[in-house]
Amino acid sequence: MQLLDGKALSKTIQKEIKTAVEKRLEEGKKRPHLAAILVGTDGASQTYVGHKVKMCKAVGFQSTLIQLANNTSQTELLEHIQKLNENTDIDGFIVQLPLPKHIDVPTITEAIDYQKDVDGFHPQNIGRMAQNLPCFLPATPAGILELLARHQVPTSGKECVVIGRSNIVGRPMSILLSRNASPGNCTVTLCHSRTQNLADYTRRADILVVALGKAEFITADMVKEGAVVVDVGITRVPDASRKRGYRLAGDVKFDEVAPKCSFITPVPGGVGPMTVTSLLLNTLRAAENRTQK
Ligand code: GUN
Repeated sequence: MQLLDGKALSKTIQKEIKTAVEKRLEEGKKRPHLAAILVGTDGASQTYVGHKVKMCKAVGFQSTLIQLANNTSQTELLEHIQKLNENTDIDGFIVQLPLPKHIDVPTITEAIDYQKDVDGFHPQNIGRMAQNLPCFLPATPAGILELLARHQVPTSGKECVVIGRSNIVGRPMSILLSRNASPGNCTVTLCHSRTQNLADYTRRADILVVALGKAEFITADMVKEGAVVVDVGITRVPDASRKRGYRLAGDVKFDEVAPKCSFITPVPGGVGPMTVTSLLLNTLRAAENRTQK
C-alpha cells in the first residue's frame, strides 16, 4: 500500500508556485491577487477560507478577504461580485460555499466573471471542462488528478466509481476521469444517495473516489483488493479526549481499508491540502492569462 500524500505533494507544488511568483516579479509583472468572499460565520468555512488566505501569503500572492454578515442580501452579494469582476488588480476570486439559505447559489456562480472563476464552478468553465478545452478546473477534482498523476497511478481503462454527485466534487470528478486524457480514460460510474446496493458498485472499482460526507462509511468489505481509494470526506466527529473537542474523520474506515489498497489518501493530509494548492495554481494561471492580454 502506498499513501497518496497530499500534504507532501502540496509542499512541493507550493514551492513551484513561489518560484513562479518570484520570476513574475523579476520580470516586472504583478503579484497574483486572490480575493475570497465569506458570508456568515460557519466554523468550517471560516477555517477553510482562513487557510486559503494563509497559503496565499506563503506562496507570495496578495489576498483580500471580504467577510459579510449572515443576513447579507443576495443583491448586496452580487454588488460585491460585480466590484471584484471590474477590479483590474484582482486576478481571481471565490465565494465560499455553503451560502445562507436565502441566497441562490447558481445565480451567484453565474455572476462571477468566468475568467476570474478560480473555483471553476461557472457553467462556462464546467462546459469547457466537459469538452476537454482550456478552463479553470474545480479545485478538489483538479487536486485529485494531480495526486494521481504525480504518483503515476494508472487510470486508462480502469473501472472508476465516484460516490457523490455534487457540483463541487463528484460530478466534475466523474467527467474528468472519463475524459480522453491522462489521468483519465476510465469507465466511470457515478453513485449517489439514491443508488441501490452501493457495495455492488464499490466492490467493482479499481479506483474509488468517495465524496459522501459520512464519517467512516466505507468499510473493508466494500473495497476490491488492490484498489486505489481517494477519500474526499472530512467530518468533525465529537471527541472529548481532544483539546479542540473533535477529531477529523474521512468517509473511509482507513485502518481496515488501507491494507487492501494499492494507493489510498489519508484524512487529514490527503485531498484537503491538494484542494488549496489547486486553487493557488488556478490563481497563478489567471494572473498569467491576464498578463498575456
Ligand atoms: N466549499 C467547499 N469546498 C469549496 C470550494 O472548493 N470552493 C468554495 N468556494 N467553497 C467550497
